[in-house]
Amino acid sequence: MKSYLSWACGTCLLGLHLSGCNTRHTTASKASGTPASATATVVPSLKETFQKDFRIGTAFDFTQAAGRDTNTSRLIGRHFNAVTPENTMKAMHLHPEWDRYNFGPADRLVAYAQQNNMPLNGHTLVWHSQLPGFMRRMKNADSVRHFFTDHITTVASRYKGKVYSWDVVNEALNEDGSLRRSVFLQHLGEGYIVEAFRLANQAAPDAELYYNDYNIEQPKKRAGTMALIKKLQSAGVRIDGVGIQGHWHIDNLPLAAIEESILAYAALGVKVMFTELDLTVLPNPWQNNTADIGRTAEGSAAMNPYTQGLPDSVQVKLAKAYQDLFTLFLKHADKITRVTFWGVNDGHSWLNNFPIRGRTNYPLLFDRNNQPKPAFYAVINTKSNNGIEKLNE
Ligand code: XIL
Repeated sequence: MKSYLSWACGTCLLGLHLSGCNTRHTTASKASGTPASATATVVPSLKETFQKDFRIGTAFDFTQAAGRDTNTSRLIGRHFNAVTPENTMKAMHLHPEWDRYNFGPADRLVAYAQQNNMPLNGHTLVWHSQLPGFMRRMKNADSVRHFFTDHITTVASRYKGKVYSWDVVNEALNEDGSLRRSVFLQHLGEGYIVEAFRLANQAAPDAELYYNDYNIEQPKKRAGTMALIKKLQSAGVRIDGVGIQGHWHIDNLPLAAIEESILAYAALGVKVMFTELDLTVLPNPWQNNTADIGRTAEGSAAMNPYTQGLPDSVQVKLAKAYQDLFTLFLKHADKITRVTFWGVNDGHSWLNNFPIRGRTNYPLLFDRNNQPKPAFYAVINTKSNNGIEKLNE
Protein backbone atom coordinates (compact mmCIF):
# COMPACT_ATOMS: atom_id res chain seq x y z
CA MET A 1 0.00 0.00 0.00
CA LYS A 2 1.16 3.53 -0.73
CA SER A 3 1.87 5.85 2.14
CA TYR A 4 -0.57 8.72 2.37
CA LEU A 5 -0.06 12.15 3.80
CA SER A 6 -3.50 13.33 4.57
CA TRP A 7 -2.74 16.96 5.26
CA ALA A 8 -2.99 19.86 2.86
CA CYS A 9 -5.01 18.02 0.25
CA GLY A 10 -8.76 18.10 0.74
CA THR A 11 -9.11 14.96 -1.30
CA CYS A 12 -6.91 12.93 1.00
CA LEU A 13 -8.91 14.21 3.95
CA LEU A 14 -11.93 12.64 2.33
CA GLY A 15 -10.34 9.23 2.39
CA LEU A 16 -9.60 9.54 -1.30
CA HIS A 17 -6.20 9.89 -2.76
CA LEU A 18 -5.40 11.60 -6.03
CA SER A 19 -2.11 10.12 -7.15
CA GLY A 20 0.34 12.79 -8.14
CA CYS A 21 -0.60 15.18 -5.37
CA ASN A 22 0.77 12.72 -2.81
CA THR A 23 4.20 12.94 -4.41
CA ARG A 24 4.10 16.70 -4.50
CA HIS A 25 3.20 17.02 -0.83
CA THR A 26 5.84 14.52 0.23
CA THR A 27 8.56 16.28 -1.73
CA ALA A 28 7.55 19.71 -0.54
CA SER A 29 7.39 18.76 3.11
CA LYS A 30 10.75 16.99 2.97
CA ALA A 31 12.36 19.88 1.17
CA SER A 32 10.99 22.67 3.28
CA GLY A 33 10.33 20.91 6.55
CA THR A 34 7.26 23.10 6.91
CA PRO A 35 4.08 21.91 8.55
CA ALA A 36 1.09 20.99 6.44
CA SER A 37 -0.74 24.26 7.07
CA ALA A 38 2.10 26.21 5.44
CA THR A 39 2.17 24.29 2.18
CA ALA A 40 0.09 26.65 0.06
CA THR A 41 2.96 27.09 -2.37
CA VAL A 42 2.92 23.42 -3.39
CA VAL A 43 -0.57 23.68 -4.82
CA PRO A 44 -0.05 23.26 -8.57
CA SER A 45 -1.14 26.10 -10.83
CA LEU A 46 -4.06 25.44 -13.16
CA LYS A 47 -2.75 27.64 -15.94
CA GLU A 48 0.72 26.08 -15.80
CA THR A 49 -0.70 22.57 -15.71
CA PHE A 50 -2.72 23.15 -18.89
CA GLN A 51 -0.27 25.55 -20.52
CA LYS A 52 0.21 23.39 -23.61
CA ASP A 53 -3.50 22.55 -23.91
CA PHE A 54 -5.78 25.58 -23.52
CA ARG A 55 -6.10 28.75 -21.53
CA ILE A 56 -7.77 28.56 -18.15
CA GLY A 57 -10.02 31.54 -17.56
CA THR A 58 -12.19 32.93 -14.81
CA ALA A 59 -15.03 35.38 -14.58
CA PHE A 60 -14.06 38.34 -12.46
CA ASP A 61 -15.33 41.78 -11.65
CA PHE A 62 -14.56 45.16 -10.26
CA THR A 63 -13.83 44.09 -6.66
CA GLN A 64 -10.97 41.85 -7.72
CA ALA A 65 -9.58 44.28 -10.29
CA ALA A 66 -9.70 47.16 -7.81
CA GLY A 67 -7.64 45.09 -5.39
CA ARG A 68 -10.43 45.01 -2.78
CA ASP A 69 -10.15 41.27 -2.41
CA THR A 70 -6.41 40.72 -2.47
CA ASN A 71 -6.56 37.04 -1.63
CA THR A 72 -8.75 36.34 -4.66
CA SER A 73 -6.70 38.65 -6.89
CA ARG A 74 -3.60 36.64 -5.97
CA LEU A 75 -5.38 33.41 -6.77
CA ILE A 76 -6.44 34.76 -10.16
CA GLY A 77 -2.83 35.64 -10.98
CA ARG A 78 -1.57 32.23 -9.96
CA HIS A 79 -4.14 29.98 -11.63
CA PHE A 80 -5.75 31.80 -14.55
CA ASN A 81 -4.50 33.23 -17.82
CA ALA A 82 -7.72 34.62 -19.26
CA VAL A 83 -10.51 36.73 -17.77
CA THR A 84 -14.12 37.54 -18.60
CA PRO A 85 -15.93 40.35 -16.79
CA GLU A 86 -18.91 38.69 -15.11
CA ASN A 87 -21.22 41.73 -15.27
CA THR A 88 -19.31 44.97 -15.82
CA MET A 89 -19.44 44.97 -19.63
CA LYS A 90 -23.13 44.14 -19.90
CA ALA A 91 -25.25 46.87 -21.49
CA MET A 92 -27.13 47.76 -18.29
CA HIS A 93 -23.83 48.75 -16.66
CA LEU A 94 -21.92 50.12 -19.64
CA HIS A 95 -24.80 52.02 -21.20
CA PRO A 96 -27.20 53.00 -18.40
CA GLU A 97 -29.01 55.77 -20.29
CA TRP A 98 -29.92 56.38 -23.91
CA ASP A 99 -27.19 58.99 -24.43
CA ARG A 100 -24.78 58.09 -21.63
CA TYR A 101 -22.14 55.41 -21.28
CA ASN A 102 -20.37 54.57 -18.01
CA PHE A 103 -16.95 53.23 -18.94
CA GLY A 104 -15.07 53.69 -15.65
CA PRO A 105 -15.36 50.19 -14.13
CA ALA A 106 -14.88 48.44 -17.50
CA ASP A 107 -11.81 50.58 -18.21
CA ARG A 108 -10.34 49.37 -14.91
CA LEU A 109 -10.96 45.74 -15.76
CA VAL A 110 -9.35 46.17 -19.16
CA ALA A 111 -6.34 47.92 -17.60
CA TYR A 112 -6.03 45.14 -15.00
CA ALA A 113 -6.08 42.49 -17.71
CA GLN A 114 -3.45 44.34 -19.73
CA GLN A 115 -1.18 44.89 -16.72
CA ASN A 116 -1.44 41.23 -15.81
CA ASN A 117 -1.01 40.01 -19.36
CA MET A 118 -4.34 38.21 -19.44
CA PRO A 119 -6.43 38.21 -22.58
CA LEU A 120 -9.83 39.68 -21.68
CA ASN A 121 -12.97 38.36 -23.31
CA GLY A 122 -15.56 41.14 -23.57
CA HIS A 123 -18.94 39.88 -22.44
CA THR A 124 -21.16 40.82 -24.19
CA LEU A 125 -22.25 43.17 -26.98
CA VAL A 126 -25.72 41.86 -27.83
CA TRP A 127 -27.85 40.04 -25.26
CA HIS A 128 -31.56 40.12 -24.46
CA SER A 129 -30.86 40.08 -20.71
CA GLN A 130 -29.30 42.68 -18.41
CA LEU A 131 -30.26 45.45 -20.81
CA PRO A 132 -30.74 49.01 -19.54
CA GLY A 133 -34.33 49.81 -18.51
CA PHE A 134 -34.92 52.26 -21.37
CA MET A 135 -33.99 49.58 -23.88
CA ARG A 136 -36.29 46.95 -22.40
CA ARG A 137 -39.23 49.36 -22.73
CA MET A 138 -38.40 50.36 -26.29
CA LYS A 139 -41.17 49.81 -28.82
CA ASN A 140 -39.85 51.70 -31.82
CA ALA A 141 -37.80 49.75 -34.37
CA ASP A 142 -35.70 52.77 -35.40
CA SER A 143 -34.72 53.41 -31.80
CA VAL A 144 -33.79 49.76 -31.30
CA ARG A 145 -31.65 49.90 -34.43
CA HIS A 146 -30.01 53.10 -33.24
CA PHE A 147 -29.22 51.60 -29.84
CA PHE A 148 -27.93 48.38 -31.41
CA THR A 149 -25.62 50.08 -33.90
CA ASP A 150 -24.38 52.76 -31.54
CA HIS A 151 -23.77 50.34 -28.67
CA ILE A 152 -21.77 47.79 -30.66
CA THR A 153 -19.74 50.44 -32.46
CA THR A 154 -19.01 52.63 -29.45
CA VAL A 155 -18.11 49.80 -27.08
CA ALA A 156 -16.10 47.67 -29.49
CA SER A 157 -14.09 50.65 -30.78
CA ARG A 158 -13.35 52.00 -27.30
CA TYR A 159 -11.58 48.75 -26.46
CA LYS A 160 -10.07 48.20 -29.91
CA GLY A 161 -6.65 46.62 -29.50
CA LYS A 162 -7.24 46.17 -25.75
CA VAL A 163 -9.89 43.48 -25.60
CA TYR A 164 -8.71 40.14 -26.96
CA SER A 165 -12.13 38.87 -27.98
CA TRP A 166 -15.85 39.62 -27.84
CA ASP A 167 -18.89 37.51 -27.15
CA VAL A 168 -20.60 39.45 -29.92
CA VAL A 169 -23.97 37.79 -29.49
CA ASN A 170 -25.05 35.89 -26.39
CA GLU A 171 -27.93 33.43 -26.05
CA ALA A 172 -29.82 34.15 -29.29
CA LEU A 173 -31.33 30.66 -29.58
CA ASN A 174 -34.21 28.69 -28.10
CA GLU A 175 -33.80 25.09 -26.97
CA ASP A 176 -35.20 23.80 -30.28
CA GLY A 177 -32.56 25.74 -32.21
CA SER A 178 -34.88 28.48 -33.46
CA LEU A 179 -34.14 32.15 -32.87
CA ARG A 180 -35.19 33.53 -29.49
CA ARG A 181 -37.87 36.23 -29.73
CA SER A 182 -35.64 38.87 -28.20
CA VAL A 183 -36.17 42.60 -28.52
CA PHE A 184 -33.55 42.47 -31.28
CA LEU A 185 -35.28 39.75 -33.31
CA GLN A 186 -38.65 41.41 -32.92
CA HIS A 187 -37.54 44.82 -34.14
CA LEU A 188 -34.57 44.10 -36.41
CA GLY A 189 -35.49 40.76 -37.92
CA GLU A 190 -33.39 37.66 -38.45
CA GLY A 191 -30.48 39.54 -40.01
CA TYR A 192 -29.51 41.16 -36.72
CA ILE A 193 -26.90 38.52 -35.83
CA VAL A 194 -24.98 38.89 -39.08
CA GLU A 195 -25.24 42.66 -38.67
CA ALA A 196 -23.88 42.49 -35.10
CA PHE A 197 -20.80 40.56 -36.21
CA ARG A 198 -20.30 42.90 -39.16
CA LEU A 199 -20.39 45.96 -36.90
CA ALA A 200 -18.10 44.35 -34.32
CA ASN A 201 -15.60 43.44 -37.03
CA GLN A 202 -15.61 47.00 -38.36
CA ALA A 203 -15.07 48.51 -34.92
CA ALA A 204 -12.56 45.97 -33.59
CA PRO A 205 -10.91 44.24 -36.55
CA ASP A 206 -8.20 42.67 -34.38
CA ALA A 207 -10.50 41.17 -31.76
CA GLU A 208 -11.68 37.59 -32.06
CA LEU A 209 -15.45 37.36 -32.46
CA TYR A 210 -17.55 34.66 -30.83
CA TYR A 211 -21.09 33.38 -30.51
CA ASN A 212 -21.82 32.29 -26.92
CA ASP A 213 -24.75 30.30 -25.53
CA TYR A 214 -25.84 27.62 -23.04
CA ASN A 215 -27.02 24.08 -23.88
CA ILE A 216 -25.59 24.38 -27.38
CA GLU A 217 -24.01 20.98 -26.90
CA GLN A 218 -27.56 19.55 -27.10
CA PRO A 219 -28.44 18.25 -30.59
CA LYS A 220 -31.26 20.66 -31.54
CA LYS A 221 -29.66 23.77 -30.16
CA ARG A 222 -26.33 22.65 -31.64
CA ALA A 223 -27.99 22.40 -35.07
CA GLY A 224 -29.32 25.94 -34.62
CA THR A 225 -25.86 27.18 -33.66
CA MET A 226 -24.26 25.47 -36.63
CA ALA A 227 -26.85 27.05 -38.95
CA LEU A 228 -26.05 30.43 -37.42
CA ILE A 229 -22.30 29.97 -37.91
CA LYS A 230 -22.81 28.85 -41.51
CA LYS A 231 -25.04 31.85 -42.18
CA LEU A 232 -22.29 34.18 -40.99
CA GLN A 233 -19.69 32.34 -43.01
CA SER A 234 -21.71 32.35 -46.20
CA ALA A 235 -22.38 36.08 -45.76
CA GLY A 236 -18.61 36.56 -45.64
CA VAL A 237 -18.76 37.85 -42.08
CA ARG A 238 -16.07 36.78 -39.65
CA ILE A 239 -16.81 34.51 -36.70
CA ASP A 240 -13.76 33.05 -34.94
CA GLY A 241 -15.23 30.85 -32.28
CA VAL A 242 -18.12 29.42 -30.39
CA GLY A 243 -18.50 29.50 -26.63
CA ILE A 244 -20.32 26.63 -24.95
CA GLN A 245 -21.23 28.12 -21.58
CA GLY A 246 -21.07 24.89 -19.58
CA HIS A 247 -23.58 25.42 -16.74
CA TRP A 248 -24.23 21.79 -15.95
CA HIS A 249 -25.47 19.60 -13.10
CA ILE A 250 -23.21 16.96 -11.53
CA ASP A 251 -25.93 14.34 -12.06
CA ASN A 252 -26.57 15.32 -15.64
CA LEU A 253 -23.27 15.90 -17.37
CA PRO A 254 -23.88 15.53 -21.13
CA LEU A 255 -20.44 14.14 -22.00
CA ALA A 256 -21.41 12.47 -25.28
CA ALA A 257 -23.20 15.59 -26.53
CA ILE A 258 -20.23 17.73 -25.50
CA GLU A 259 -17.82 15.56 -27.46
CA GLU A 260 -20.06 15.55 -30.54
CA SER A 261 -20.30 19.32 -30.32
CA ILE A 262 -16.56 19.88 -30.04
CA LEU A 263 -16.12 17.86 -33.23
CA ALA A 264 -19.06 19.44 -35.05
CA TYR A 265 -18.08 23.04 -34.31
CA ALA A 266 -14.41 22.43 -35.04
CA ALA A 267 -15.40 20.93 -38.39
CA LEU A 268 -16.90 24.33 -39.29
CA GLY A 269 -13.49 25.86 -38.80
CA VAL A 270 -14.21 27.80 -35.60
CA LYS A 271 -12.46 27.63 -32.24
CA VAL A 272 -14.30 25.89 -29.43
CA MET A 273 -14.36 27.31 -25.91
CA PHE A 274 -16.03 26.45 -22.65
CA THR A 275 -16.81 29.90 -21.40
CA GLU A 276 -18.81 29.81 -18.17
CA LEU A 277 -18.04 26.48 -16.60
CA ASP A 278 -19.61 25.57 -13.26
CA LEU A 279 -21.27 22.38 -12.02
CA THR A 280 -24.20 22.82 -9.68
CA VAL A 281 -24.65 20.25 -6.92
CA LEU A 282 -28.10 21.51 -5.80
CA PRO A 283 -31.52 20.21 -6.74
CA ASN A 284 -32.79 21.77 -9.92
CA PRO A 285 -36.42 22.87 -9.84
CA TRP A 286 -36.68 22.13 -13.56
CA GLN A 287 -34.69 18.90 -13.66
CA ASN A 288 -32.52 19.93 -16.55
CA ASN A 289 -29.53 22.05 -17.40
CA THR A 290 -30.47 25.63 -18.03
CA ALA A 291 -29.07 29.07 -17.61
CA ASP A 292 -32.12 31.02 -18.63
CA ILE A 293 -31.95 33.73 -16.03
CA GLY A 294 -35.48 34.90 -16.73
CA ARG A 295 -36.75 31.92 -14.72
CA THR A 296 -35.66 32.81 -11.21
CA ALA A 297 -37.97 31.17 -8.68
CA GLU A 298 -38.30 31.04 -4.91
CA GLY A 299 -37.38 27.75 -3.27
CA SER A 300 -37.90 25.63 -0.19
CA ALA A 301 -35.43 24.33 2.43
CA ALA A 302 -35.33 21.02 0.54
CA MET A 303 -33.90 22.96 -2.37
CA ASN A 304 -30.98 24.13 -0.20
CA PRO A 305 -29.68 20.98 1.52
CA TYR A 306 -25.97 21.77 2.07
CA THR A 307 -25.96 24.93 4.17
CA GLN A 308 -23.67 23.26 6.75
CA GLY A 309 -21.14 21.97 4.24
CA LEU A 310 -20.95 19.55 1.34
CA PRO A 311 -21.28 15.85 2.24
CA ASP A 312 -18.23 13.77 1.25
CA SER A 313 -20.25 11.71 -1.21
CA VAL A 314 -21.26 14.82 -3.14
CA GLN A 315 -17.74 16.24 -2.95
CA VAL A 316 -16.48 13.05 -4.58
CA LYS A 317 -19.20 13.16 -7.24
CA LEU A 318 -18.25 16.73 -8.08
CA ALA A 319 -14.57 15.78 -8.35
CA LYS A 320 -15.44 12.84 -10.61
CA ALA A 321 -17.62 15.02 -12.86
CA TYR A 322 -14.79 17.54 -13.26
CA GLN A 323 -12.35 14.73 -13.90
CA ASP A 324 -14.57 13.33 -16.69
CA LEU A 325 -14.93 16.76 -18.24
CA PHE A 326 -11.26 17.62 -18.26
CA THR A 327 -10.34 14.17 -19.54
CA LEU A 328 -12.60 14.94 -22.50
CA PHE A 329 -11.23 18.46 -22.91
CA LEU A 330 -7.69 17.09 -23.02
CA LYS A 331 -8.66 14.51 -25.62
CA HIS A 332 -9.70 17.41 -27.87
CA ALA A 333 -7.21 20.01 -26.71
CA ASP A 334 -6.25 20.69 -30.34
CA LYS A 335 -9.75 22.11 -30.91
CA ILE A 336 -10.33 23.85 -27.58
CA THR A 337 -8.66 27.19 -26.97
CA ARG A 338 -10.04 28.18 -23.57
CA VAL A 339 -11.85 26.78 -20.56
CA THR A 340 -13.23 29.55 -18.34
CA PHE A 341 -14.81 29.00 -14.93
CA TRP A 342 -17.74 31.25 -14.05
CA GLY A 343 -16.19 32.67 -10.91
CA VAL A 344 -13.13 32.04 -8.76
CA ASN A 345 -14.53 30.44 -5.63
CA ASP A 346 -17.81 28.92 -4.45
CA GLY A 347 -18.66 32.04 -2.47
CA HIS A 348 -18.53 34.15 -5.66
CA SER A 349 -20.70 31.89 -7.75
CA TRP A 350 -23.92 33.22 -9.27
CA LEU A 351 -25.35 29.75 -8.60
CA ASN A 352 -25.83 30.74 -4.95
CA ASN A 353 -28.62 32.97 -6.26
CA PHE A 354 -29.80 31.25 -9.40
CA PRO A 355 -32.31 29.82 -10.09
CA ILE A 356 -33.30 30.27 -6.44
CA ARG A 357 -31.92 33.07 -4.30
CA GLY A 358 -29.88 32.60 -1.14
CA ARG A 359 -28.71 28.99 -1.52
CA THR A 360 -25.31 27.53 -0.66
CA ASN A 361 -23.80 25.99 -3.76
CA TYR A 362 -20.37 24.44 -4.42
CA PRO A 363 -19.85 24.53 -8.21
CA LEU A 364 -16.21 25.64 -8.60
CA LEU A 365 -12.70 24.32 -7.87
CA PHE A 366 -11.95 26.61 -4.91
CA ASP A 367 -13.97 26.77 -1.69
CA ARG A 368 -15.22 29.88 0.07
CA ASN A 369 -11.80 30.37 1.67
CA ASN A 370 -10.05 30.10 -1.69
CA GLN A 371 -8.72 26.65 -0.81
CA PRO A 372 -8.49 24.04 -3.59
CA LYS A 373 -11.21 21.40 -3.36
CA PRO A 374 -10.97 17.71 -4.28
CA ALA A 375 -12.36 18.72 -7.68
CA PHE A 376 -9.30 20.94 -8.15
CA TYR A 377 -6.94 18.01 -7.68
CA ALA A 378 -9.13 15.82 -9.88
CA VAL A 379 -8.74 18.38 -12.67
CA ILE A 380 -4.98 18.70 -12.14
CA ASN A 381 -4.61 14.95 -12.19
CA THR A 382 -6.26 14.52 -15.57
CA LYS A 383 -2.94 15.74 -16.94
CA SER A 384 -1.11 12.74 -15.55
CA ASN A 385 -3.99 10.38 -16.34
CA ASN A 386 -3.89 9.11 -12.81
CA GLY A 387 -7.48 9.86 -11.96
CA ILE A 388 -8.93 9.09 -8.60
CA GLU A 389 -7.90 5.97 -6.72
CA LYS A 390 -9.76 4.80 -3.69
CA LEU A 391 -7.68 4.66 -0.51
CA ASN A 392 -6.42 1.13 0.25
CA GLU A 393 -7.21 -0.14 -3.22
C1 XIL B 1 -24.80 36.04 -14.62
C2 XIL B 1 -23.90 36.63 -13.54
O1 XIL B 1 -23.00 35.63 -13.12
C3 XIL B 1 -24.73 37.12 -12.38
O2 XIL B 1 -23.92 37.79 -11.42
C4 XIL B 1 -25.82 38.06 -12.88
O3 XIL B 1 -26.66 38.43 -11.81
C5 XIL B 1 -26.64 37.41 -13.97
O4 XIL B 1 -25.78 36.97 -15.02
N1 XIL B 1 -25.16 33.32 -18.93
C6 XIL B 1 -24.35 34.40 -19.18
C7 XIL B 1 -23.80 35.18 -18.05
O5 XIL B 1 -23.97 34.64 -20.34
O6 XIL B 1 -23.63 36.53 -18.38
C8 XIL B 1 -24.67 35.06 -16.81
O7 XIL B 1 -24.00 35.72 -15.74
C9 XIL B 1 -24.92 33.60 -16.50
C10 XIL B 1 -25.67 32.94 -17.64
